[in-house]
Amino acid sequence: MIHNPTIDLMLQRKSVRKYTDQKPSDEVIETIVRAGQQAPFASQLYSILLTRKKKAPFGAPLWFIICIDLYKLERFMQIRGWEVVTNDIVMLLFGLQDAAYAAENMVVAAESLGLGSCYLGIMSKRATQIIKQYKLPKRVFPLVELVMGYPAETFPPRPRYPMPFTLHEERYPILSDDEVRAAMQVMDDGYMAQGYYSRQKIKIPIESGRPDTFTHDNYSWTEHISRKWGQWFPSPNDMLEVLKSQGFDLQPKE
Ligand SMILES: Cc1cc2nc3c(=O)[nH]c(=O)nc-3n(C[C@H](O)[C@H](O)[C@H](O)COP(=O)(O)O)c2cc1C
Repeated sequence: MIHNPTIDLMLQRKSVRKYTDQKPSDEVIETIVRAGQQAPFASQLYSILLTRKKKAPFGAPLWFIICIDLYKLERFMQIRGWEVVTNDIVMLLFGLQDAAYAAENMVVAAESLGLGSCYLGIMSKRATQIIKQYKLPKRVFPLVELVMGYPAETFPPRPRYPMPFTLHEERYPILSDDEVRAAMQVMDDGYMAQGYYSRQKIKIPIESGRPDTFTHDNYSWTEHISRKWGQWFPSPNDMLEVLKSQGFDLQPKE
């Protein structure tokens, strides 16, 4: 593996959930956002909201919200005498990418300046709150929250799937159960070695009658993720409703 300062910075990055009270300067913030802007884009379909007045989750001094933004595109197209006819599923997928690449550039830039960060996923209820609080116009949708500040905790980076489970050259492999299990083990052992869930006292409860045989001695990443996506938000309706109220039309057409 090749090492250089950029690669090492990226390999050392981790989500930080404890921050000092030190406030990043305006120059630091502008540098981070400017680096975010320089990410590749389909059409710059995003906006970045910032709050410094309230302490963010984990005591972070900076609280960004990265939004998918079709509003500004439509404003300039209007000036040019055009209307978007591309369907909203395509626009949403491109907007999601523009927003995500900018956000991740911000994360890496922040890391290079000695700041840490953590994303926070947004579901429908939180999306509705943000839309109200920031008075988001139609065609703007909050994709993800991103808190930042100077870290007040140190720990090693978290594990990732083994390379052969991620990189597939020329064709997608037929994965045996043993190969899947081996990848699960790498993740679970890595998280357990850090006491990731036991330290934070996190364990998603099982909502059905299914017995919970896990303690913090064996509860780890693959169980946590399975409980999350195996129980939460089965209906798309709430999210579709918020998207609709923000002017996104995701219904099939004749
Ligand atoms: C879209 C997205 C949503 C996330 N939501 C949360 C969240 O709600 N709470 C949280 O503590 N971490 C959240 N994270 C951070 C992940 O938990 C973290 O990136 C992952 O566990 C890997 O750890 P690492 O970033 O330290 O390598 C989120 C990350 C992403 C990309």
